[in-house]
Amino acid sequence: MIKILENVSLKDKNTFAVDCRAKYFTEVLNEYQIPEILETNAFQSSKRFILGGGSNTLFAKDFEGIVVHLANRSIRIVESNKKFVLLEVDAGMNWHKFVEISLNNKYYGLENLALIPGTIGGAITQNIGAYGVEVKEFVHEVRGIDTTSGEFLVLSNDDCKFGYRTSIFKTELRGRFIITSGIFKLSRKPNVNLSYPELKKLVQKFPFIKPDPKYVFDQVCKIRSSKLPDIEKLPNAGSFFKNPVVNGETLEIIKQKFDDVPSFELGEGKYKIPAGWLIEKVGWKGKRVGNVGTYERHALVIINYGVNSGREILNFARMIQNEVYETFGIHLDFEVEVIE
Ligand code: EPU
Repeated sequence: MIKILENVSLKDKNTFAVDCRAKYFTEVLNEYQIPEILETNAFQSSKRFILGGGSNTLFAKDFEGIVVHLANRSIRIVESNKKFVLLEVDAGMNWHKFVEISLNNKYYGLENLALIPGTIGGAITQNIGAYGVEVKEFVHEVRGIDTTSGEFLVLSNDDCKFGYRTSIFKTELRGRFIITSGIFKLSRKPNVNLSYPELKKLVQKFPFIKPDPKYVFDQVCKIRSSKLPDIEKLPNAGSFFKNPVVNGETLEIIKQKFDDVPSFELGEGKYKIPAGWLIEKVGWKGKRVGNVGTYERHALVIINYGVNSGREILNFARMIQNEVYETFGIHLDFEVEVIE
């Protein structure tokens, strides 16, 4: 049986903890409920939003449509051999829980992605990444339902068109496809990735420690907890902006004024510059306007210090965009999905 609720508060369903409402709201505990949801008037006649953990979404106003909340949470082995395992994980399962379960069962690869808030569906949709690893490296297939035809479909990794914090689910299939589960291919053999500068530094500092996946997992948890605010105490949605990509000419112009600008070469004359650094340089690290501010230890994270309306957070983010644009001529794109 499905239930379509009306005028539901989403305050405890978004990590910014903004007090917005959904005109209609329904929770999916089992993927076989979805065809019934698709038939309802509420679904047929209004805007749709598929919600996972709400850890990358800013509701700037009430949602005048239906919010479909994925809360299916099981996990099963599809195939297992000496080299790898294929695990099917439901879209509503908590991402970090899955990372822990896989490590405890000696299925490796996800260590660098520890402690990222959100669900499996969200992780796939925005191709989460951290410490030199992106989830797309482990996604074998994605299962879901096309809401237009009502058909269950299986998409291959290539079909998903993954990019930096994006996929087909954020572009062509936005609002049209509901991910029901992801099939992940994890290694039975440990193979740690220490390419990210902060992890590399740690290994050089303690050369007598041989880093295994558990060690990497622990270090990633430690680094994240020291740099990023706890969503339970300081409501936020992780990085608010994407790291911009610029050409060599723009980078040179910045270097002439600020010779300490960090950059990562992407090839084809393109460079990624950390948005956190740009925001810090314009003096907005730890800055507050009323009850919204950037985190004092990481300028890329915007914190809700007590506003009820997402609009105030959006206005604050726009002020940052303007400041960075005026100083550097660089437009910062939102990483967080803004619903307005
Ligand atoms: N930096 C500053 N000031 C700041 C923050 C950062 O100068 O206030 C500089 C740092 O010194 C460093 C560089 O910026 O040289 C990069 O910082 P960091 O390693 O913290 O990574 P990031 O590029 O800011 C990205 C992801 C994070 C992910 C980290 C670690 C994006 C938009 N963000 O942040 O992802 O955890 O790398 O891999 O790509 C998220 O997506 O929500 C998220 C937290």
